[in-house]
Amino acid sequence: MKNVLVVGIGAGNPEHMTVQAINALNQADVLFIPTKGDAKAQLADIRRDIVSRYVTNPKSRVVEFEVPVRQVADRSYHRSVDDWHAAIASAYERLLIQELAEDRTGAFLVWGDPMLYDSTIRIIERVRALAAVAFDYAVIPGITSIQALAASHRIPLNLVGKPVEITTGRRLMESFPHRNETAVVMLDGEQAFMKIEDPDARIYWGAYLGTDQEIILSGRLADVKDEILKTRAAARAQHGWIMDIYLLQKGADFEE
Ligand SMILES: C[S@@+](CC[C@H](N)C(=O)[O-])C[C@H]1O[C@@H](n2cnc3c(N)ncnc32)[C@H](O)[C@@H]1O
Repeated sequence: MKNVLVVGIGAGNPEHMTVQAINALNQADVLFIPTKGDAKAQLADIRRDIVSRYVTNPKSRVVEFEVPVRQVADRSYHRSVDDWHAAIASAYERLLIQELAEDRTGAFLVWGDPMLYDSTIRIIERVRALAAVAFDYAVIPGITSIQALAASHRIPLNLVGKPVEITTGRRLMESFPHRNETAVVMLDGEQAFMKIEDPDARIYWGAYLGTDQEIILSGRLADVKDEILKTRAAARAQHGWIMDIYLLQKGADFEE
């Protein structure tokens, strides 16, 4: 049977690669590298760098494939995501049929960790359900952007004994700070932190974490939000793309 490894590669620094992830890549006959157009070419470059640094198996081969783009026009959010996953599932299916021989192993290099705001596992399950190609698979964990953010700011993720919510910009207003004192916000295209009116909240923001372009800013939300907005816009204009994440927090350790 064919075998697939879904390998977490860390969130930007090639040195995030774990020994388990390096061994998994070296076990693979085919290394699948997604490309996402010119704007995000750097993400594919980091994957190529990881392969050239760590893969010593002379028999392995790299196969690059273009990831279908999500279409949003004239459809609901759910419909748009479902159609997108279906398109990626057919791309994966084609790769596994055309590029991976029987009894061989293929590895997908997944940004950060595959369990965090990533649909590779879901899509692999979808391909299995389609049943046009038989394969088994395993998941290898990776360093997430949340860990990279906390490490760069030298902060623990949670207040003592308190929960943490991981959410998106779109949903931030539903939770912070009424439901949880700590929220990690990912995939925020609308800079939702600007709408939080709370003088006591603190923000820890990071962009391009783990890469040479890493930027971090932190402070009282009211004091630094405009600076973050400006810095973000300038960095995005300079690089042509941005990936950022932040943690919002209210309260203190041992405070009830
Ligand atoms: C599709 S999710 C993938 C998350 C990934 N699986 C992980 O474990 O971090 C992409 C989001 O992760 C965050 N992210 C990933 N890598 C990042 C980095 N190097 N710097 C800042 N944010 C990052 C951003 O919020 C981005 O919008």
